[in-house]
Amino acid sequence: SDLFHYQNNQLFAEGKAVTELAKTYGTPLYIYSRTELEQRWQAFNQAFGSQPHLVCYAVKTNSNLAVLQVLAQLGSGFDIVSQGELERVLRAGGQANKVVFSGVAKKEIEIERALAVGIRCFNIESHAELARIQAVAAHMDKIAPISIRVNPNVDAKTHPYISTGLKENKFGVDIVTAPALYQQAAALPNIKVIGIDCHIGSQLTEIAPFVDALKKVLELKTTLAGLGIEIHHLDLGGGLGIRYTDQTPPAISDYLAALLTELNDPSIEVIIEPGRAIAGNAGILVTEVEYLKPTEHKNFAIIDAAMNDLIRPALYQAYQDIIPVTPRNEGTAVEWDVVGPVCETGDFLGKNRLLNLQAGDLLAVMSAGAYGFTMSSNYNTRPRAAEVMVQNQQAWLVRPRETYDDLMGKEQLI
Ligand code: LLP
Repeated sequence: SDLFHYQNNQLFAEGKAVTELAKTYGTPLYIYSRTELEQRWQAFNQAFGSQPHLVCYAVKTNSNLAVLQVLAQLGSGFDIVSQGELERVLRAGGQANKVVFSGVAKKEIEIERALAVGIRCFNIESHAELARIQAVAAHMDKIAPISIRVNPNVDAKTHPYISTGLKENKFGVDIVTAPALYQQAAALPNIKVIGIDCHIGSQLTEIAPFVDALKKVLELKTTLAGLGIEIHHLDLGGGLGIRYTDQTPPAISDYLAALLTELNDPSIEVIIEPGRAIAGNAGILVTEVEYLKPTEHKNFAIIDAAMNDLIRPALYQAYQDIIPVTPRNEGTAVEWDVVGPVCETGDFLGKNRLLNLQAGDLLAVMSAGAYGFTMSSNYNTRPRAAEVMVQNQQAWLVRPRETYDDLMGKEQLI
Protein backbone atom coordinates (compact mmCIF):
# COMPACT_ATOMS: atom_id res chain seq x y z
CA SER A 1 0.00 0.00 0.00
CA ASP A 2 1.16 3.61 -0.47
CA LEU A 3 1.13 3.97 3.28
CA PHE A 4 4.42 2.10 3.13
CA HIS A 5 6.48 4.17 0.72
CA TYR A 6 9.95 5.50 0.01
CA GLN A 7 10.80 9.10 0.76
CA ASN A 8 14.39 10.40 0.46
CA ASN A 9 15.62 6.86 -0.11
CA GLN A 10 14.06 5.65 3.16
CA LEU A 11 11.13 3.35 3.70
CA PHE A 12 8.34 5.01 5.64
CA ALA A 13 5.36 3.56 7.47
CA GLU A 14 2.88 6.42 7.15
CA GLY A 15 4.81 9.38 8.61
CA LYS A 16 7.38 7.30 10.46
CA ALA A 17 10.79 6.29 9.14
CA VAL A 18 11.13 2.53 9.45
CA THR A 19 14.79 2.86 10.52
CA GLU A 20 13.66 4.98 13.48
CA LEU A 21 11.01 2.46 14.49
CA ALA A 22 13.55 -0.37 14.22
CA LYS A 23 15.98 1.62 16.37
CA THR A 24 13.34 2.27 19.02
CA TYR A 25 11.68 -1.13 19.14
CA GLY A 26 14.31 -3.50 17.76
CA THR A 27 13.93 -6.22 15.15
CA PRO A 28 12.20 -8.39 14.11
CA LEU A 29 9.35 -5.90 14.24
CA TYR A 30 5.83 -5.96 12.88
CA ILE A 31 4.58 -2.52 11.82
CA TYR A 32 0.88 -1.92 11.11
CA SER A 33 -0.65 1.07 9.36
CA ARG A 34 -3.79 2.18 11.12
CA THR A 35 -4.84 4.26 8.12
CA GLU A 36 -4.61 1.27 5.78
CA LEU A 37 -6.67 -0.87 8.16
CA GLU A 38 -9.31 1.84 8.37
CA GLN A 39 -9.41 2.50 4.65
CA ARG A 40 -9.76 -1.15 3.73
CA TRP A 41 -12.52 -1.77 6.27
CA GLN A 42 -14.33 1.35 5.06
CA ALA A 43 -14.00 0.20 1.45
CA PHE A 44 -15.93 -2.98 2.33
CA ASN A 45 -18.46 -1.13 4.42
CA GLN A 46 -19.16 1.59 1.86
CA ALA A 47 -19.38 -0.73 -1.14
CA PHE A 48 -22.59 -2.16 0.34
CA GLY A 49 -24.42 1.12 -0.18
CA SER A 50 -27.94 0.78 1.19
CA GLN A 51 -27.86 -3.04 1.38
CA PRO A 52 -28.28 -4.16 5.00
CA HIS A 53 -24.92 -5.63 5.91
CA LEU A 54 -22.30 -6.33 8.53
CA VAL A 55 -18.56 -6.54 7.84
CA CYS A 56 -17.24 -9.13 10.29
CA TYR A 57 -13.44 -8.92 10.25
CA ALA A 58 -11.89 -12.39 10.56
CA VAL A 59 -10.02 -12.15 13.85
CA LYS A 60 -7.58 -14.97 13.05
CA THR A 61 -5.97 -12.80 10.39
CA ASN A 62 -4.40 -10.38 12.84
CA SER A 63 -5.80 -10.42 16.33
CA ASN A 64 -3.70 -7.82 18.10
CA LEU A 65 -6.05 -5.99 20.48
CA ALA A 66 -5.19 -2.62 18.96
CA VAL A 67 -6.05 -3.88 15.47
CA LEU A 68 -9.40 -5.13 16.77
CA GLN A 69 -9.92 -1.85 18.64
CA VAL A 70 -9.32 0.24 15.53
CA LEU A 71 -11.90 -1.80 13.62
CA ALA A 72 -14.36 -1.95 16.51
CA GLN A 73 -14.28 1.86 16.63
CA LEU A 74 -15.43 1.90 13.01
CA GLY A 75 -18.36 -0.33 13.96
CA SER A 76 -16.93 -3.59 12.69
CA GLY A 77 -18.35 -6.98 13.47
CA PHE A 78 -16.03 -9.93 14.00
CA ASP A 79 -15.76 -13.49 12.78
CA ILE A 80 -14.24 -15.68 15.49
CA VAL A 81 -13.19 -19.32 15.64
CA SER A 82 -12.48 -19.76 19.34
CA GLN A 83 -13.33 -18.43 22.77
CA GLY A 84 -9.89 -16.87 22.84
CA GLU A 85 -10.80 -14.74 19.85
CA LEU A 86 -14.12 -13.83 21.50
CA GLU A 87 -12.28 -12.65 24.62
CA ARG A 88 -9.99 -10.56 22.43
CA VAL A 89 -12.95 -8.91 20.69
CA LEU A 90 -14.58 -8.09 24.01
CA ARG A 91 -11.36 -6.71 25.50
CA ALA A 92 -10.82 -4.57 22.43
CA GLY A 93 -14.26 -3.01 22.81
CA GLY A 94 -16.09 -5.02 20.15
CA GLN A 95 -19.78 -5.72 20.53
CA ALA A 96 -20.89 -9.29 21.20
CA ASN A 97 -24.01 -8.86 19.08
CA LYS A 98 -21.80 -8.26 16.05
CA VAL A 99 -19.86 -11.49 16.49
CA VAL A 100 -20.31 -14.58 14.32
CA PHE A 101 -18.73 -17.80 15.53
CA SER A 102 -17.22 -20.08 12.85
CA GLY A 103 -15.07 -23.17 13.21
CA VAL A 104 -15.52 -26.93 13.07
CA ALA A 105 -14.97 -27.84 16.72
CA LYS A 106 -16.66 -25.48 19.14
CA LYS A 107 -16.28 -26.82 22.67
CA GLU A 108 -19.15 -26.81 25.15
CA ILE A 109 -17.50 -24.16 27.27
CA GLU A 110 -16.98 -21.95 24.23
CA ILE A 111 -20.63 -22.26 23.24
CA GLU A 112 -21.65 -21.42 26.79
CA ARG A 113 -19.54 -18.27 26.86
CA ALA A 114 -20.79 -17.17 23.44
CA LEU A 115 -24.41 -17.66 24.54
CA ALA A 116 -23.77 -15.85 27.82
CA VAL A 117 -22.42 -12.74 26.10
CA GLY A 118 -25.03 -12.89 23.35
CA ILE A 119 -23.25 -13.31 20.03
CA ARG A 120 -25.08 -12.70 16.78
CA CYS A 121 -24.80 -16.13 15.19
CA PHE A 122 -23.23 -19.58 15.41
CA ASN A 123 -22.06 -20.87 12.05
CA ILE A 124 -22.75 -24.57 12.40
CA GLU A 125 -20.54 -27.06 10.62
CA SER A 126 -22.08 -30.46 11.43
CA HIS A 127 -25.08 -32.36 12.74
CA ALA A 128 -23.21 -33.19 15.94
CA GLU A 129 -22.44 -29.55 16.55
CA LEU A 130 -26.10 -28.59 16.09
CA ALA A 131 -27.03 -31.15 18.75
CA ARG A 132 -24.40 -29.80 21.13
CA ILE A 133 -25.49 -26.20 20.71
CA GLN A 134 -29.13 -27.19 21.31
CA ALA A 135 -28.11 -29.02 24.49
CA VAL A 136 -26.01 -26.16 25.87
CA ALA A 137 -28.66 -23.57 25.01
CA ALA A 138 -31.39 -25.67 26.64
CA HIS A 139 -29.31 -26.02 29.77
CA MET A 140 -28.86 -22.24 29.93
CA ASP A 141 -32.48 -21.61 28.95
CA LYS A 142 -31.35 -19.55 25.97
CA ILE A 143 -32.10 -19.50 22.27
CA ALA A 144 -29.06 -19.93 20.02
CA PRO A 145 -29.21 -18.06 16.69
CA ILE A 146 -27.64 -20.20 13.98
CA SER A 147 -26.75 -20.47 10.34
CA ILE A 148 -25.43 -23.61 8.72
CA ARG A 149 -22.15 -23.39 6.91
CA VAL A 150 -22.74 -25.10 3.62
CA ASN A 151 -20.11 -26.43 1.33
CA PRO A 152 -21.11 -25.35 -2.17
CA ASN A 153 -18.46 -27.51 -3.86
CA VAL A 154 -16.89 -24.76 -5.92
CA ASP A 155 -13.21 -24.57 -6.74
CA ALA A 156 -11.71 -21.44 -5.23
CA LYS A 157 -8.62 -21.89 -7.47
CA THR A 158 -6.26 -21.05 -4.64
CA HIS A 159 -3.56 -22.96 -2.74
CA PRO A 160 -4.97 -26.35 -1.63
CA TYR A 161 -4.20 -25.63 2.04
CA ILE A 162 -6.43 -22.55 2.02
CA SER A 163 -9.20 -23.86 -0.23
CA THR A 164 -12.19 -24.85 1.85
CA GLY A 165 -15.25 -25.08 -0.40
CA LEU A 166 -14.59 -28.41 -2.10
CA LYS A 167 -16.32 -31.67 -1.17
CA GLU A 168 -13.10 -33.19 0.11
CA ASN A 169 -12.54 -30.41 2.67
CA LYS A 170 -13.47 -30.86 6.33
CA PHE A 171 -15.51 -27.66 6.38
CA GLY A 172 -19.24 -27.14 6.27
CA VAL A 173 -22.18 -29.34 5.39
CA ASP A 174 -22.76 -30.68 1.89
CA ILE A 175 -25.18 -28.23 0.31
CA VAL A 176 -27.25 -31.13 -1.03
CA THR A 177 -28.00 -32.48 2.44
CA ALA A 178 -28.26 -29.05 4.07
CA PRO A 179 -32.09 -28.74 3.75
CA ALA A 180 -32.56 -31.84 5.91
CA LEU A 181 -30.27 -30.43 8.59
CA TYR A 182 -32.06 -27.08 8.41
CA GLN A 183 -35.37 -28.86 8.98
CA GLN A 184 -33.97 -30.58 12.04
CA ALA A 185 -32.56 -27.30 13.31
CA ALA A 186 -35.86 -25.49 12.79
CA ALA A 187 -37.62 -28.10 14.91
CA LEU A 188 -35.29 -27.73 17.90
CA PRO A 189 -36.69 -25.69 20.80
CA ASN A 190 -33.53 -23.73 21.68
CA ILE A 191 -32.32 -23.06 18.14
CA LYS A 192 -33.35 -20.17 15.95
CA VAL A 193 -32.42 -20.48 12.29
CA ILE A 194 -31.42 -17.06 10.98
CA GLY A 195 -28.93 -17.50 8.17
CA ILE A 196 -26.96 -19.44 5.60
CA ASP A 197 -23.17 -19.34 5.76
CA CYS A 198 -20.42 -20.28 3.36
CA HIS A 199 -16.70 -19.63 3.00
CA ILE A 200 -14.91 -21.20 0.06
CA GLY A 201 -11.28 -20.33 0.63
CA SER A 202 -8.72 -17.62 0.99
CA GLN A 203 -6.56 -15.47 -1.31
CA LEU A 204 -9.03 -15.75 -4.19
CA THR A 205 -8.05 -13.55 -7.08
CA GLU A 206 -11.14 -14.05 -9.23
CA ILE A 207 -14.74 -13.08 -8.67
CA ALA A 208 -16.34 -16.07 -10.44
CA PRO A 209 -16.01 -18.65 -7.62
CA PHE A 210 -17.64 -16.21 -5.17
CA VAL A 211 -20.56 -15.68 -7.56
CA ASP A 212 -20.89 -19.43 -8.16
CA ALA A 213 -21.04 -20.04 -4.43
CA LEU A 214 -23.65 -17.30 -3.98
CA LYS A 215 -25.81 -18.82 -6.73
CA LYS A 216 -25.85 -22.11 -4.85
CA VAL A 217 -26.60 -20.37 -1.57
CA LEU A 218 -29.53 -18.56 -3.21
CA GLU A 219 -30.90 -21.85 -4.56
CA LEU A 220 -30.72 -23.24 -1.05
CA LYS A 221 -32.54 -20.18 0.30
CA THR A 222 -35.37 -20.82 -2.18
CA THR A 223 -35.52 -24.48 -1.22
CA LEU A 224 -35.69 -23.54 2.46
CA ALA A 225 -38.46 -21.01 1.81
CA GLY A 226 -40.43 -23.88 0.26
CA LEU A 227 -39.97 -25.77 3.50
CA GLY A 228 -41.24 -22.81 5.50
CA ILE A 229 -37.79 -21.85 6.79
CA GLU A 230 -37.13 -18.15 6.49
CA ILE A 231 -33.58 -16.83 6.17
CA HIS A 232 -32.67 -13.38 7.53
CA HIS A 233 -29.05 -13.14 6.49
CA LEU A 234 -26.53 -14.62 4.11
CA ASP A 235 -22.96 -14.90 5.36
CA LEU A 236 -20.70 -15.12 2.33
CA GLY A 237 -17.46 -15.60 4.26
CA GLY A 238 -14.12 -14.02 3.53
CA GLY A 239 -11.50 -14.90 0.98
CA LEU A 240 -10.85 -11.89 -1.19
CA GLY A 241 -7.19 -11.95 -2.16
CA ILE A 242 -4.58 -9.22 -2.12
CA ARG A 243 -1.64 -8.29 -4.28
CA TYR A 244 1.52 -9.83 -2.84
CA THR A 245 3.61 -9.30 -5.92
CA ASP A 246 2.01 -9.79 -9.33
CA GLN A 247 -1.53 -10.87 -8.43
CA THR A 248 -4.40 -8.74 -9.66
CA PRO A 249 -7.27 -9.42 -7.28
CA PRO A 250 -10.56 -7.66 -7.92
CA ALA A 251 -11.11 -4.35 -6.16
CA ILE A 252 -13.27 -4.56 -3.06
CA SER A 253 -15.96 -2.51 -4.78
CA ASP A 254 -16.04 -4.76 -7.87
CA TYR A 255 -16.17 -7.88 -5.75
CA LEU A 256 -19.12 -6.62 -3.73
CA ALA A 257 -20.87 -5.13 -6.76
CA ALA A 258 -20.76 -8.55 -8.44
CA LEU A 259 -22.21 -10.21 -5.35
CA LEU A 260 -24.97 -7.64 -4.86
CA THR A 261 -25.93 -7.86 -8.55
CA GLU A 262 -26.24 -11.62 -8.34
CA LEU A 263 -28.13 -11.33 -5.05
CA ASN A 264 -30.60 -8.78 -6.40
CA ASP A 265 -32.44 -8.48 -3.10
CA PRO A 266 -32.08 -5.11 -1.35
CA SER A 267 -33.70 -6.23 1.87
CA ILE A 268 -31.77 -9.30 3.00
CA GLU A 269 -28.81 -8.72 5.29
CA VAL A 270 -25.40 -9.73 3.95
CA ILE A 271 -22.55 -10.61 6.28
CA ILE A 272 -18.99 -10.97 5.02
CA GLU A 273 -15.90 -12.13 6.89
CA PRO A 274 -12.89 -10.54 5.21
CA GLY A 275 -9.50 -10.85 6.87
CA ARG A 276 -6.53 -10.71 4.53
CA ALA A 277 -8.08 -8.03 2.30
CA ILE A 278 -8.25 -5.72 5.33
CA ALA A 279 -5.03 -6.48 7.17
CA GLY A 280 -2.66 -8.03 4.62
CA ASN A 281 -1.18 -4.92 3.12
CA ALA A 282 -1.55 -3.00 6.37
CA GLY A 283 1.52 -4.68 7.83
CA ILE A 284 5.21 -5.28 7.22
CA LEU A 285 7.81 -7.33 9.05
CA VAL A 286 11.11 -5.53 9.53
CA THR A 287 14.23 -7.60 10.00
CA GLU A 288 17.98 -7.04 10.14
CA VAL A 289 20.56 -8.88 8.10
CA GLU A 290 22.79 -10.63 10.63
CA TYR A 291 25.26 -12.31 8.27
CA LEU A 292 25.96 -12.66 4.62
CA LYS A 293 27.06 -16.16 3.68
CA PRO A 294 27.93 -16.42 0.03
CA THR A 295 28.70 -20.00 -1.02
CA GLU A 296 29.62 -21.67 -4.27
CA HIS A 297 26.05 -22.70 -4.91
CA LYS A 298 23.93 -20.06 -3.24
CA ASN A 299 24.15 -16.76 -1.49
CA PHE A 300 22.49 -16.77 1.89
CA ALA A 301 21.39 -13.63 3.65
CA ILE A 302 20.77 -14.67 7.23
CA ILE A 303 18.26 -12.40 8.91
CA ASP A 304 16.97 -12.10 12.46
CA ALA A 305 13.38 -13.03 11.51
CA ALA A 306 12.47 -16.62 10.84
CA MET A 307 9.70 -19.08 10.04
CA ASN A 308 8.53 -18.79 13.64
CA ASP A 309 7.80 -15.10 12.97
CA LEU A 310 6.26 -15.55 9.52
CA ILE A 311 5.46 -19.08 8.46
CA ARG A 312 3.67 -18.41 5.16
CA PRO A 313 6.70 -18.92 2.90
CA ALA A 314 7.61 -22.21 4.63
CA LEU A 315 4.04 -23.50 4.86
CA TYR A 316 2.51 -22.45 1.53
CA GLN A 317 5.58 -21.54 -0.53
CA ALA A 318 4.05 -18.06 -0.34
CA TYR A 319 5.92 -15.27 -2.08
CA GLN A 320 6.13 -11.97 -0.21
CA ASP A 321 8.20 -9.07 -1.47
CA ILE A 322 11.37 -8.31 0.47
CA ILE A 323 12.68 -4.79 0.03
CA PRO A 324 15.51 -2.76 1.52
CA VAL A 325 14.56 -0.21 4.16
CA THR A 326 17.38 2.05 2.91
CA PRO A 327 18.25 1.12 -0.68
CA ARG A 328 21.98 1.36 -1.53
CA ASN A 329 23.22 3.42 -4.42
CA GLU A 330 26.67 1.83 -4.45
CA GLY A 331 27.40 -1.79 -5.24
CA THR A 332 25.40 -4.30 -7.24
CA ALA A 333 22.45 -6.52 -6.58
CA VAL A 334 22.85 -10.29 -6.59
CA GLU A 335 20.49 -13.14 -5.81
CA TRP A 336 20.10 -14.08 -2.17
CA ASP A 337 18.15 -16.73 -0.32
CA VAL A 338 16.79 -14.80 2.61
CA VAL A 339 16.84 -17.27 5.48
CA GLY A 340 16.26 -17.21 9.22
CA PRO A 341 18.20 -18.60 12.18
CA VAL A 342 15.84 -21.54 12.80
CA CYS A 343 17.24 -25.05 12.41
CA GLU A 344 15.05 -26.13 9.50
CA THR A 345 15.79 -26.15 5.80
CA GLY A 346 12.28 -24.76 5.32
CA ASP A 347 13.22 -21.67 7.26
CA PHE A 348 13.30 -19.10 4.51
CA LEU A 349 11.35 -15.92 3.91
CA GLY A 350 12.37 -15.59 0.30
CA LYS A 351 14.46 -17.37 -2.31
CA ASN A 352 16.54 -15.97 -5.15
CA ARG A 353 15.84 -12.37 -4.26
CA LEU A 354 17.78 -9.78 -6.18
CA LEU A 355 19.16 -7.48 -3.49
CA ASN A 356 22.14 -5.23 -2.93
CA LEU A 357 22.98 -6.16 0.65
CA GLN A 358 25.46 -5.73 3.45
CA ALA A 359 25.36 -7.19 6.94
CA GLY A 360 23.46 -4.87 9.25
CA ASP A 361 20.97 -3.78 6.57
CA LEU A 362 17.30 -3.62 7.40
CA LEU A 363 14.84 -5.43 5.15
CA ALA A 364 11.05 -5.20 5.05
CA VAL A 365 8.95 -8.25 4.28
CA MET A 366 5.85 -6.78 2.70
CA SER A 367 2.18 -7.80 2.97
CA ALA A 368 2.80 -9.27 6.40
CA GLY A 369 -0.25 -7.85 8.17
CA ALA A 370 -2.35 -10.98 7.63
CA TYR A 371 -1.49 -14.43 9.01
CA GLY A 372 1.87 -13.13 10.14
CA PHE A 373 2.07 -12.56 13.86
CA THR A 374 -1.06 -14.67 14.49
CA MET A 375 0.66 -17.76 13.08
CA SER A 376 3.94 -17.09 14.85
CA SER A 377 5.39 -19.40 17.48
CA ASN A 378 8.22 -19.67 19.96
CA TYR A 379 10.00 -22.46 18.08
CA ASN A 380 13.71 -22.49 18.92
CA THR A 381 12.78 -20.51 22.07
CA ARG A 382 12.57 -17.35 20.05
CA PRO A 383 10.61 -14.54 21.70
CA ARG A 384 7.88 -13.33 19.40
CA ALA A 385 8.43 -10.03 17.62
CA ALA A 386 7.27 -6.67 18.89
CA GLU A 387 4.25 -5.12 17.17
CA VAL A 388 3.81 -1.42 16.59
CA MET A 389 0.89 0.51 15.13
CA VAL A 390 1.47 3.77 13.31
CA GLN A 391 -0.73 6.53 12.05
CA ASN A 392 0.71 9.68 10.52
CA GLN A 393 3.58 10.72 12.83
CA GLN A 394 2.36 8.67 15.75
CA ALA A 395 3.50 5.22 16.84
CA TRP A 396 2.07 2.97 19.53
CA LEU A 397 3.84 -0.13 20.79
CA VAL A 398 0.88 -2.52 20.78
CA ARG A 399 2.77 -5.60 21.92
CA PRO A 400 6.29 -5.48 23.30
CA ARG A 401 8.81 -8.08 22.24
CA GLU A 402 8.42 -11.16 24.40
CA THR A 403 10.91 -11.69 27.20
CA TYR A 404 12.49 -14.97 28.21
CA ASP A 405 10.32 -14.86 31.28
CA ASP A 406 7.25 -14.69 29.01
CA LEU A 407 8.52 -17.85 27.35
CA MET A 408 9.58 -19.85 30.41
CA GLY A 409 7.95 -18.22 33.37
CA LYS A 410 5.10 -20.73 33.68
CA GLU A 411 7.24 -23.83 33.30
CA GLN A 412 8.15 -25.86 36.38
CA LEU A 413 11.16 -27.91 37.33
CA ILE A 414 10.25 -31.29 38.85
N1 LLP B 1 -14.10 -16.85 7.43
C1 LLP B 1 -13.72 -18.11 7.66
C2 LLP B 1 -14.71 -19.09 8.12
C3 LLP B 1 -12.38 -18.47 7.47
O1 LLP B 1 -12.01 -19.73 7.68
C4 LLP B 1 -11.44 -17.50 7.04
C5 LLP B 1 -10.04 -17.85 6.84
C6 LLP B 1 -11.90 -16.19 6.82
C7 LLP B 1 -13.24 -15.90 7.01
C8 LLP B 1 -10.99 -15.08 6.37
O2 LLP B 1 -10.47 -15.35 5.11
P1 LLP B 1 -9.62 -14.22 4.33
O3 LLP B 1 -10.57 -13.08 4.01
O4 LLP B 1 -8.53 -13.79 5.19
O5 LLP B 1 -9.17 -14.92 3.11
N2 LLP B 1 -3.16 -18.92 6.92
C9 LLP B 1 -3.52 -18.84 5.52
C10 LLP B 1 -4.96 -18.40 5.35
C11 LLP B 1 -5.95 -19.27 6.09
C12 LLP B 1 -7.36 -18.79 5.97
C13 LLP B 1 -8.23 -19.49 6.95
N3 LLP B 1 -9.59 -19.03 6.97
C14 LLP B 1 -2.54 -17.92 4.81
O6 LLP B 1 -1.64 -17.40 5.46
O7 LLP B 1 -2.63 -17.73 3.60
